[in-house]
Formats: sequence, structure tokens, C-alpha cells
Amino acid sequence: MSDTESSGIATRACVLGIETSCDETSASVVEREADRITQRSLVILSQDVHRIFGGVVPEIASRQHLTALVPVVDRALADAGLTPNDLDAVAVTYAPGLVGALLVGVSFAKAMAFTHGLPVVAVHHMEGHLFAPSLEDAAAEPPFTALLVSGGHTLLLDVPAWGRYRLLGATRDDAAGEAFDKVAKLLGLPYPGGRPIEQLARSGDPTRQRFARPMLRRDQRPGDADYYDVSFSGLKTGVLHAVRAAADLDAEKAHIARGFQDALIETLVEKSWRAAQAYGRTRVVLGGGVACNGALVEAMRRRLGDLGATVHAPSPRLATDNAAMIARAGIFHLDRGERAELDLSAFAAMPLPGLEPVA
Ligand code: KG4
Ligand code: ZN
Repeated sequence: MSDTESSGIATRACVLGIETSCDETSASVVEREADRITQRSLVILSQDVHRIFGGVVPEIASRQHLTALVPVVDRALADAGLTPNDLDAVAVTYAPGLVGALLVGVSFAKAMAFTHGLPVVAVHHMEGHLFAPSLEDAAAEPPFTALLVSGGHTLLLDVPAWGRYRLLGATRDDAAGEAFDKVAKLLGLPYPGGRPIEQLARSGDPTRQRFARPMLRRDQRPGDADYYDVSFSGLKTGVLHAVRAAADLDAEKAHIARGFQDALIETLVEKSWRAAQAYGRTRVVLGGGVACNGALVEAMRRRLGDLGATVHAPSPRLATDNAAMIARAGIFHLDRGERAELDLSAFAAMPLPGLEPVA
């Protein structure tokens, strides 16, 4: 066990993170020495089988986590050059996500912690995404505006400090990644659709297929319910009409992909700009799989530059689901003395911890 400073916080914390909320089996060791955070290992095993079905099949995901988790954890420990005896805690994603998939990680974490006499720290998956950029970018620290855009969630947050979150806006229907995946399907592209759409959109003419910017109007004012919220189902229907109207879909595909991506990006960028401006933030942190999108990051940097704000986007490996972000968030909660009981369960839905009223 670690030495403890007079403040009560251990001088060193070495945490194994486990992530099994969707279709990635991941384990990672992250260490804190005083204020310095080091990612000692990160193993991510992506379940490619779901591509055949055009979406994640929950029962298959759970079974694959069961098969993969032990070797993935062994590998993460070996890559870090550690044994379980060197750990101070096991941090695990307990919500939100596919409940059967989450339960594999939670059950494993509890069993491992019990065997080795370690505490378990329960981590909310979306809080993990908030911590991801800070693993490779020391400036990605609060206060900041955060835009989390994944396959299941789209959240716009103001973050005055770690553990304090103001939920400003969210999607009213489809998540940003879900919109990419559904539009990809309409265009006959593979699942997951984000990357193929981004690639195709590069050769598209931005003026040929223009879609209305969803839930974005100049007359919206702070305090209006739709000032920060987003909605992508109408945009998806717009794409469907464009697909049906195309005389030669193969010739039109790239233009539709470009028009869709531009509309979605402009909405996300403007809503993030509004949040940064309203709260006087000079940093914007991005997270979730859609943060891999280079056009989004570039547009965000261009627009937020108006406010003198910097944009912090994680590398693709840390933007998508991974256990390093779970271990990092776990260290934060461990330092605060938070421990889960051994009756910890998994939850498909759960509000972000630390939510405070929006000022
Ligand atoms: O965060 P993530 O790995 O898993 C969830 O927690 O959902 O996000 C997956 C989502 C998918 O919808 C995928 O299409 C999207 O991220 N995505 C992208 C890109 N790469 C992945 N979306 C847009 N552009 C990309 N380059
Ligand atoms: Zn995620």
C-alpha cells in the first residue's frame, strides 16, 4: 500500500481500470505519483463480430467480454510490468451501457479486488470520457466546456472542476455517433459509420446537398430549452429524402455525406461556442468516438479561436472506449476516499455523478 501524506491523500496511487460497457474489452494501468499521471499500459480488444450485424448485439457482446477479459487484464498488467499486488485499487465502469456487458466487468473487478484485498472504485462511463484527454494533454484540465459525442450519448457540459458537472444540453433523440451510423446505413456504408462518412465527405461538394442545421437558429437565447440541446433525427430524415431523390446514388453519395457531416458539425460547434462564451471558458474538451472526426476538431478549433479558446481532442485510441480513462477517473475518486461496496451492480442508465444545478 502507498504512503500517505498529512493531507490524507496517498502520495502514489496505482489503479487497474476495466471497461466493458459496449463492444470494447479494455484494461489499463494508470499511476499517479504526487500530481503526475502516467498511463503504464492500455489494452483494447474491439469486438469486430458486430460488423456482420450492422450494430452491437448485446448478448454476443457479453459473451465476448467473458472470453476476453482475463487475457486482456493479464496483458495490461504484464505490459505495465506489474502484478495485482502492486495495485492500490480496481476501477470499473458500472454505468451506463449494456447491462450484461457491464456486469462482466463489474463481477470480474469485484472478484479480483476481493481476492487481492483491494478496494473497488465505481466509475461512470461518461465521466471517464471527460478524463480521457487529460491522459495525454496536461492542459485538458478544468475549468472547461466539454462536448461528449459517442454512439450512445451527446452531452454538452460546463466543468468548473473535476467532480463538478453542469449539464447544459443533450440530444433530444439520436446521439451524434448514432446519426453517423444510421446515415452510413442509408448510404450503404459499413458499420460503424463515422469513419467511412468522414472519408467519403472529403470528396463531397459542400454546396450540392445542403441540409438545415438541426435545432440551430439565431433567435435562440440563453434560457431557451433548445439553446444548448441538439437533435439529429430530422437531419437523418433529410438524408433519407436526399437518398430517395438521387437519380444516381453512387454519384451523389459523397455530396450527401458532406452535407450531412457539415450540418451536424456546425450544430455541435455553435452549441459548444455558446457554452464556452456563456461561462467564460478558454478550453473546450472533446470526448467520445465522434471526437475522432478530424473535420469536427478542425471546425471547433477555427470557431472557438474567436473566443481565444483552445480545443483539446484526445487521440483516437483515447477518444473511443478505453480503460485508461476509467482508471484515471478511478484515481480521482480513490483520492477522494470513495470506495464501492462488494454489492456493486451494473446499470444501463445512470445520471453523471457530481451534477449540480446550472447557474
Ligand atoms: O465512444 P464510442 O467508441 O462508443 C460509445 O460509447 O458509443 O463511439 C462510437 C461512435 C460510433 O457511432 C462511430 O460511428 C463514431 O463513434 N465514430 C465517428 C468517427 N469514428 C468513430 N464518428 C464520426 N467520425 C469519425 N471519424
Ligand atoms: Zn463511450
